[in-house]
Amino acid sequence: MSSPDTSVFGPDFLWGAATSAYQIEGAVAEDGRSASIWDTFCAVPGAIDNGDTGAEACDSYHRWPEDIALMRTLGLDSYRFSLAWPRIFPDGTGALNQAGLDHYDRLVDALLEAGIRPNATLYHWDLPQTLQDRGGWPIRATAHAFADYAGAVAARLGDRVEHWATLNEPLCSAWIGHLEGSMAPGLKDLTAAVRASFHLHLGHGLAAQAVRAAAPGPVRIGITNNLSTCEPASGSDADIAAARRADGHINRWWLDPIFGRGYPQDMVDVYGVDLPVHPGDLDTIAQPLDWLGVNYYFRQIIADRPDGPVPHFTQLRGPGPKTAMGWEVHAAGLEQLLLRVTHDYGAQHLFVTENGAAYEDVVKASGEAGGLEVVDPERTAYLEQHLAACARAVAAGAPLRGYYCWSLLDNFEWAYGYDKRFGLVHVDYPTQRRTIKSSGHRYAALIRAHRAQFPGRA
Ligand code: IFM
Repeated sequence: MSSPDTSVFGPDFLWGAATSAYQIEGAVAEDGRSASIWDTFCAVPGAIDNGDTGAEACDSYHRWPEDIALMRTLGLDSYRFSLAWPRIFPDGTGALNQAGLDHYDRLVDALLEAGIRPNATLYHWDLPQTLQDRGGWPIRATAHAFADYAGAVAARLGDRVEHWATLNEPLCSAWIGHLEGSMAPGLKDLTAAVRASFHLHLGHGLAAQAVRAAAPGPVRIGITNNLSTCEPASGSDADIAAARRADGHINRWWLDPIFGRGYPQDMVDVYGVDLPVHPGDLDTIAQPLDWLGVNYYFRQIIADRPDGPVPHFTQLRGPGPKTAMGWEVHAAGLEQLLLRVTHDYGAQHLFVTENGAAYEDVVKASGEAGGLEVVDPERTAYLEQHLAACARAVAAGAPLRGYYCWSLLDNFEWAYGYDKRFGLVHVDYPTQRRTIKSSGHRYAALIRAHRAQFPGRA
């Protein structure tokens, strides 16, 4: 066990954990919720491992009081969750479903009552299917519908929720959902993917404006991007150029526009798709950001692949140990990314909004009658290494203000179904019993140790 030097984090550092609506809530047909693109995608034969779906997930739609109690046991300062758009506007636009919004109202009140600050994500991939049927993210109207939804939510919750994220990992929505096809809506269409990426960005900017305009209280608005360092697999010119394209595809395409730089021209040329930009759109996209969320899981080692699909590169596995996802554990990548967004983009307030690992957890009976025990040394080491990377980045000047572990709970890991477990808390799906893993206890101990350095902290 190694202890990261968290003293550099300062007294106001937020310790958190993250989830998303479709991955934990279940209750997909309750209180007026309509289908999302993920309900539809889960029904496609072969799309999801084991034919799993989010229909029940962790049943957090009903069990959230128990989940908040777990957060208290862990000592979290903040909980990052997402709101399900199809619960709030079942038709995507138009009539607001109060019962759906009431759920989040209760959740927010209970979090605050427990002394836990909500950090609410407006879109974590669950587009109402009705909007997909009308064209989805490849069309402009979806960005406006998103802003209307965001404004309505902020009008109700913005007196109590300070931290808001517009989008979670728009890369996955655009590239994996519309280009690679292994996430909803399951398309493999470069033009649709590039247009979706643009309308996601436009939706981000419009939603940021809408939240600021509608919220009764002070709000701090951000966006969370999944970023990766991109290293060439060799010193060849071809691999170096491929790594530059990968960096464009994974990082710069998602950072440049929101930081007011427009779209990177090298990537516009690589995609060869006209962006449907209207006058003023790039300014709308570049709304001031109160914070930037970095989601980090692995680095990319990139080789040229001229005969592969645009953008013509392939991702190789590095030599380090792998998680159950096959992702290489490489904590230095997180340090590098935090420093890059600080120095290259001038980010002034950062959160690590996701970081964590899936492992094949061993569940044993504990001493207590019927109790369970999950000892997960690999996840514990992963956490310690990545928190140490955060501490190094802070010591080198990164304005990191909080860390959210992915995830609070084992949950529905999209196309991988329930087999891949990322939680600090184990979920026994047949009984919905929750058990804090040893990594969760270690995380709680790190939080306590950090607080102990600042006895005057509120
Ligand atoms: O589970 C996902 C999450 O929804 C988005 N970021 C990556 C996580 C692990 O794959």
